Amino acid sequence: MTSTSTPTRVSDAAKISVRGVTKTFPLGNEDFIALDNVSLDVADNEFVTIVGPSGCGKSTLMNVLAGLEDVSSGHALVDGIAVAGPGPERGVIFQQYALFPWLTVRKNVEFGLKTARVPRAERRERAEHFINLVGLTQFADALPKMLSGGMKQRCAIARAYAVNPSILLMDEPFGALDALTRVRLQEQLLETWSQEKRTVVFITHDVDEAVFLANRVVVMAARPGRVYDVIDVDLPYPRTEDMRLSPEFTALRNRVWHSVYHQTTGQQTSLMPSTATA
Ligand SMILES: Nc1ncnc2c1ncn2[C@@H]1O[C@H](COP(=O)(O)OP(=O)(O)O)[C@@H](O)[C@H]1O
Ligand SMILES: [Mg+2]
Repeated sequence: MTSTSTPTRVSDAAKISVRGVTKTFPLGNEDFIALDNVSLDVADNEFVTIVGPSGCGKSTLMNVLAGLEDVSSGHALVDGIAVAGPGPERGVIFQQYALFPWLTVRKNVEFGLKTARVPRAERRERAEHFINLVGLTQFADALPKMLSGGMKQRCAIARAYAVNPSILLMDEPFGALDALTRVRLQEQLLETWSQEKRTVVFITHDVDEAVFLANRVVVMAARPGRVYDVIDVDLPYPRTEDMRLSPEFTALRNRVWHSVYHQTTGQQTSLMPSTATA
């Protein structure tokens, strides 16, 4: 689906490589620049969070990586090959719980495996493994309507993991959850990730969440959507509750916060999230 029809192989080790990606949408007689010359490399098994005000192009970038949106110029590469549509090596998790309401947790998790024609016994076993990993064993035979929001998202994570993608693309997956559930799911996600490493691109507008999860925080700015700052998080894993209160965490959080809420451009000095489109 990208404008780059010929697969391009580049000689670098990045798992995901975004090179000078610009994405415009028609707006009246003009083009609206949703992404302006965005470049970003994500290493294999790296956990990168992307944070920024509403409308800065986070979801657009995610959709480009997922192969759901083409680029106007530049390249988005996965394993050195231009993204040309969705692929099984990229699992996508959205804010809305995209579960089939008529299927049990187990059947939801098995769904992608069934589509991929994985034999029944193996399907069962793999679903079991990931349901267990996200702590839903007791609810394997429950329908989504019997689950809390947090449990639904854990089910969505298990389902994404089950098809064994090497990349997880998550667009504000915990955005609809209450603060406490959110914190628990952050820990759970890191625990899952530490046991089954994947390359993760996780979008959020929550600064604490961005720092707590990441190896690296990418801060985006709006109008036009662009990479504004990249901040390394040199905190060890496993990340713990105590760590959130540490001076190191606080310093990083303040730095990211400042970068998100006091963005400066030639013309604008502040881009509060409430001023933009969601
Ligand atoms: N399909 C589309 N058509 C027109 N404009 C779009 C489309 N998708 C996104 N946009 C615009 O691009 C900008 C970035 O949107 P989005 O990537 O959803 O931002 P974010 O996820 O950071 O809130 C917004 O101003 C939005 O209105
Ligand atoms: Mg978005």
